[in-house]
Amino acid sequence: MATVPIELLRCPFCAAAVAEDGAELRCDGCGRVFGVTDDGIPLMLHPELPGAREKLAEAEGWLEKAKSEGWYEPDDAVDRALPFVNRELGWDNPLWLANGHSFQILLDRYVQQQRGLRVLEVGAAKAWAARFWLERDCDFVATDILIDRKIGLGRGAFYGDFGRVQADGEALPFPDATFDITYCVATLHHALDLTKMVREMTRVTKVGGTVAGLNEGVRGALRNADNPDQQAEKDLGINEHVHTASAYALAFLRNGVVLRRVERSDGWPPLPFGYFLSKVPKVGMTLGTLVHATAAKYVGVSFYGRRAK
Ligand SMILES: C[S@@+](CC[C@H](N)C(=O)[O-])C[C@H]1O[C@@H](n2cnc3c(N)ncnc32)[C@H](O)[C@@H]1O
Ligand SMILES: [Zn+2]
Repeated sequence: MATVPIELLRCPFCAAAVAEDGAELRCDGCGRVFGVTDDGIPLMLHPELPGAREKLAEAEGWLEKAKSEGWYEPDDAVDRALPFVNRELGWDNPLWLANGHSFQILLDRYVQQQRGLRVLEVGAAKAWAARFWLERDCDFVATDILIDRKIGLGRGAFYGDFGRVQADGEALPFPDATFDITYCVATLHHALDLTKMVREMTRVTKVGGTVAGLNEGVRGALRNADNPDQQAEKDLGINEHVHTASAYALAFLRNGVVLRRVERSDGWPPLPFGYFLSKVPKVGMTLGTLVHATAAKYVGVSFYGRRAK
């Protein structure tokens, strides 16, 4: 029935196992009931979860934004090329440049030749990354609060057969230490509580596994936390925040994640501030990027870490 093995699901309230109960799932611990869509997506973003109202409102906001901006209807040629639409379709889109670059670094540095990994993406939307995990024989689970058939997890069927679960990144419905890699792309800044989302992503990752937040827009230390560029999305109910790079770094470190690399998500060197520091072997790029992002106005940054304990 569900797109994921039921043994992998846990109640986001009490962490107990869930069991099939007719067309629904029922928690063995607290008895709460979770729906499942016709296409097998378990609905684990329960309305009683903290912040559920705001998160479900955000999901509606994305639909409105996509419809008003003309990208609601899926285009197979585009979806097949994501995230590399600049390279493959000749686009000149800075967002996809940064998403694509950061994702390629995740594959090149932290996956390398490994196959058969257990991988979780938080805030996956259509789950365009699925094709890269499936071709590496990975058990991929895509989660998001957005399940729409055209721009949400429902569209994931286009990429093949893999796990899709409606879930809140701040209350993940999975057991501890399950995944080899847990990551998100441009999603951490939607968390109502950044530290909580990083804590949850870390909890479900195996010790030694990779926890990464790719392409997060960060603000310089002296910049306002109200980024005017986000106002239109906020007006639609989308939960937008702009944290400093050090707030992200702290959220990782506090949760026991050692940062292995922090860099500009578009791959550009941290110029001018931080450039010379970035040339220092090993930790240089991380330190140079943190200096650069602290001095910059707004810049996209990617964080790659390892769960240490
Ligand atoms: C900027 S979009 C990025 C989508 C996708 N990662 C991509 O690159 O195409 C942010 C995504 O985060 C999702 N999101 C927002 N809050 C979330 C939460 N609390 N838990 C999980 N996903 C969330 C949104 O629904 C949206 O799909
Ligand atoms: Zn429960």
